[in-house]
Amino acid sequence: MHNHKAHGPHGHHDYSHEVMGDILEQEGALHRGFNADAAAWLSGLITVPVARVLDAGSGPGLAACVLAEAFPDAEVTALDPQDGLLARAAARAERLGLGGRFRTHRAELPGGVDGLDPVDLAWSSRALHHVGDQQAAVDALAATLRPGGVLAVVEGGLPPRCLPRDLGLGTPGLEARMDAAAQDWFSDMRTDLPETAAAVEDWTGMITKAGLTPAGTKTFLADLPAPLSAEDRRFVHTRLTMTRDQLADALLPEDKATLETLLDPDSPHGVLHRRDVFFLHALTVHTGRKE
Ligand SMILES: C[S@@+](CC[C@H](N)C(=O)[O-])C[C@H]1O[C@@H](n2cnc3c(N)ncnc32)[C@H](O)[C@@H]1O
Repeated sequence: MHNHKAHGPHGHHDYSHEVMGDILEQEGALHRGFNADAAAWLSGLITVPVARVLDAGSGPGLAACVLAEAFPDAEVTALDPQDGLLARAAARAERLGLGGRFRTHRAELPGGVDGLDPVDLAWSSRALHHVGDQQAAVDALAATLRPGGVLAVVEGGLPPRCLPRDLGLGTPGLEARMDAAAQDWFSDMRTDLPETAAAVEDWTGMITKAGLTPAGTKTFLADLPAPLSAEDRRFVHTRLTMTRDQLADALLPEDKATLETLLDPDSPHGVLHRRDVFFLHALTVHTGRKE
């Protein structure tokens, strides 16, 4: 079985496809407003009829299905290296009645798009940072576009927050300290990638270098205010569990203990029970058009 590797600064945690699929589906649910808003923005930005859409690094296909709904005349291809995630994407499309114009393609960027039919919209959300040579991946996606087609890359923005600064537990500012540790985790993750190449994370610059004309950058909020539904609190619990696993010992002992309390399903201070848990994530979409 293939595993999705999440590298921590002090160790490695391997998630099975099933666990990774659950995590990405739950995260996708927290991003539901974002996917719909971004798709609506893109449909106003693209000036050609959209007959074909590619979602590169689709995971379990939440955005791919939203794009299929936003572009009702389009055939949508979800591309991902992980069969298990693609199976979830296909099942989701089927459930939503989109199966007739939904395809999956197991491949890896940057090379994996070679030979695909050209598209009018290439979308890639939070996947390019998993590719060692990000410019090569942007180049490969740009090359899939028909004239007038648009590349939309979701990267950057601001890290998600779900907790008040002062939790009534531990030292205030836990999430800010977790974000700092996550930056180191991210750098380690990128260093360990095959054929990793240093790149300034200037997505508009990379899109321009790939021969496209910048067509707009917009940041969207996934904004679920407190109190969350019990289901959304469970999703936040899953995210925090993954963060705890990834950051391992990079946190101060007191912060680790606070995090354990937050994850304890039996603690009244835990995120499953707190009415002050929210979800706020800023996601930036960078676009370029093929002239
Ligand atoms: C953080 S998930 C993002 C999933 C989804 N696009 C979203 O925004 O929720 C990253 C995805 O990129 C995929 N991925 C990793 N390396 C890749 C590569 N070289 N080419 C294409 N996809 C890749 C992973 O399998 C995973 O599904």
